[in-house]
Amino acid sequence: MINIKEMMIENSIPMKITIIGTGYVGLVSGACFAELGNEVMCLDINPKIISQLKKAKVSFFEPDLQKLVQKNIKKKTLKFTTSYATGCKNNIFFICVDTPDNGFGSPDLKSLNSVLRMLQKKITRDAVLVLKSTLPLGTNNRIAKSMSKHFLLKNIIVDVCSNPEFLKEGSAIKDFMQPDRIILGTPSESSKALLTKLYAPLKSKSTQLFHMSVESAELTKYASNAFLATKISFMNEVALIAEKSGGNIHEVREGMGADRRIGPDFLNAGLGFGGSCFPKDMKALINFEKKNKIKNSIIENALKINQNQVKLFIKKIRSTFGSNLKDKSFVIWGLSFKPNTDDTRDSVAIELIKLIAPSVKSLYLFDPKVKKDSLSKLKKYPNITFLNSQYENFNLANGLIICTEWNDFKDPKINKLAKLQDRVIFDGRNILDSQLMNENNFSYIGIGL
Ligand code: UGA
Repeated sequence: MINIKEMMIENSIPMKITIIGTGYVGLVSGACFAELGNEVMCLDINPKIISQLKKAKVSFFEPDLQKLVQKNIKKKTLKFTTSYATGCKNNIFFICVDTPDNGFGSPDLKSLNSVLRMLQKKITRDAVLVLKSTLPLGTNNRIAKSMSKHFLLKNIIVDVCSNPEFLKEGSAIKDFMQPDRIILGTPSESSKALLTKLYAPLKSKSTQLFHMSVESAELTKYASNAFLATKISFMNEVALIAEKSGGNIHEVREGMGADRRIGPDFLNAGLGFGGSCFPKDMKALINFEKKNKIKNSIIENALKINQNQVKLFIKKIRSTFGSNLKDKSFVIWGLSFKPNTDDTRDSVAIELIKLIAPSVKSLYLFDPKVKKDSLSKLKKYPNITFLNSQYENFNLANGLIICTEWNDFKDPKINKLAKLQDRVIFDGRNILDSQLMNENNFSYIGIGL
């Protein structure tokens, strides 16, 4: 067993932690652990990112993150390095590297494997390795086996733990500081005690701490994301039924959500889910099910419903104008996969744009945060223009298509919308008041209404 006494003495609060990977999860976790009073070293092999972070410059948008980084750099609780020698002066490691889809429905473990190789070279004493990256089921155990084989001869014990993150982009700091739950999958009493101590400041009436096996922790993460995504697809299916039966999805959602067993969250019908997590995690679970011959997958169908959602929406656009859109132009509001982020990974908006750009005259795109430079994937469409302000070019467009539910879009100026040539609004997120739109002589097309 790991020498817990020594580790506890050395790592009494404030603890000395190394976070590996300064992407979204790593940087938020690092800044928040530092804010809780720990001494955090963030390690990343990308020298450009680290040199920017040393100047407190965060390369992506997440509310309040830049301020938190700045504050903790000043307090000297948050430091950055590209050096494993420096990072390995500590003996608690959080691995937060990205595991993007490899194109075949499985997470790409290249970054993770190179981190593990470096740690095997550089760790010289007992250590706790905490995996925050979302990894295919069984990966934590495989890592534990390979670590123990590697370190056995050196008489070093490395505990491999799973501590999945449940941060939502756009509210990540709040999610870290006031989580619903903290999941700790630990292989020994020693690492369990250490991580319990580290997370103690976050325990409160509304935050539960769950101890479990490493396997259960891995699956809790996947199952949570797949369940939330399935809730969304379920509502999108109900929205289709509402359209055929005359129901209104807003009313149905309120009625359903009031049942505490169902709950009001993640019941918004719309263009469906995107982002770097839900689709990737569902694909990984579906892969696992296939390999293990688990049939009749709800998760697989939930993903299929989601993939079809944007196509159904485009059908609505086509049937409004007749199938030929060649001389039609649209303003598109919202490019990020959800509000309060500039992240366009797996964004439904981008998918919609790619699908309709080849068959329309012009598309005018606006997003409050997404920068034109980050959208090289749209460069090949000559008929796309990026707008600098929300109401530009309305007089040149036949209709407006809303793809992301930014607050800025929820209460639009009617006199500006009225410049649309055909006064048609396709609301892919159901954020506008349909009655108000109809009263003002717009054709308003939402989902499930
Ligand atoms: C999601 C989970 O919510 C986090 O708990 C998890 O930690 C994270 O994935 C992850 O695995 O790292 P995130 O991808 O940031 O977080 O975004 P969500 O807020 O969950 O939204 C996902 C997508 O669902 C968005 O495209 C959003 O527009 C869509 N959505 C959400 C709906 O279509 N309807 C809803 O009712 C809610």
